[in-house]
Amino acid sequence: MSQEIFDKAQGKLAEINDYKVDNSEQLEQFRIAYLGSKNTLKPMFGEMRNIANERKKEYGQLMNTLKQTAQSRFDALKDALENKAAENVDVPDLSLPVNADDLGSRHPIALVRNQIIEIFNRLGFVISEGPEIEDDWHNFTALNFPPHHPARDMQDTFFITDDISLRTHTSSVQVRVMEHEKPPIRTISPGRVYRNETISARAHCQFHQVEGLYVDENVSFADLKQTLYYFAQEMFGANTRIQFRPSYFPFTEISAEMDISCFVCGGDGCSICKHTGWVEILGCGMVDPNVLENCGIDSEKYTGFAFGMGVERIAMLKYRISDIRPFFENDIRFLKQFASVTD
Ligand code: PHE
Repeated sequence: MSQEIFDKAQGKLAEINDYKVDNSEQLEQFRIAYLGSKNTLKPMFGEMRNIANERKKEYGQLMNTLKQTAQSRFDALKDALENKAAENVDVPDLSLPVNADDLGSRHPIALVRNQIIEIFNRLGFVISEGPEIEDDWHNFTALNFPPHHPARDMQDTFFITDDISLRTHTSSVQVRVMEHEKPPIRTISPGRVYRNETISARAHCQFHQVEGLYVDENVSFADLKQTLYYFAQEMFGANTRIQFRPSYFPFTEISAEMDISCFVCGGDGCSICKHTGWVEILGCGMVDPNVLENCGIDSEKYTGFAFGMGVERIAMLKYRISDIRPFFENDIRFLKQFASVTD
């Protein structure tokens, strides 16, 4: 008789140890069955009286084990359920919208260069490019800088050998175009140029230019003015006015520097235009006949105009940047500010 009761209790113990739950309802059923006020262990305690005296102690211990196991099994099942719930929280919600990828942005120099190119494209100017490492002929001599002429000092040069240097302007590209093409020539040369200058907020040893050239019969200074007036209005707004100041470049005669009316104050005077109402944006002039001849173009028949501007300078004006250095530092915080500019 005793053994049967023992077997029943052992069976119960195995049942508790093997018990599994998948959800909180099943856990509650476990609690009711083994720990609740009418739990199934209770009648087994009552069996004590049917146990032979010599085995009563053993049965009592078994019943204690049963009770403790029920409690610890309950705790373990509850923990497991809670952990499972916590794990479920980490499962990504696949119905959520996707995070937009971080998009890159165009460099402000590329933005402004593209705008300049686009404006001159509309006037029929085509892009020409040439080497950044240039010989003396294309960078200087053909452009009417005689050897040892002090004008060479206008552009502090990085020399590689006596004859080879980093180009100081993209006028060198225009020499190459004139050497190979017959007028009419309408070209713009965007590109990087180098000058041996101390780096400061206002100057850098590398920067970008867009230079333009128009050679044909009867090209006049009036054509130059109208072309650059169109450019200024397209770039800086329809109310922009221009003025020319006499200047000197070896490769142009006559030479001028062009200012635009300040697009910030409209000419009234502000810190951008240093209270003059005007800001300088480019150099220009009629191509010196010597340059045309150096490139094999008949200067009796053809005339031309040329101009050149610094892209950094225009970008600094346009975006009100007071220091040239960030253009070359690749600081993502600087570059990200142009993410919304798309043209
Ligand atoms: N090449 C000149 C410079 O680098 C700019 C310029 C181009 C001036 C064409 C006049 C005509 O400063």
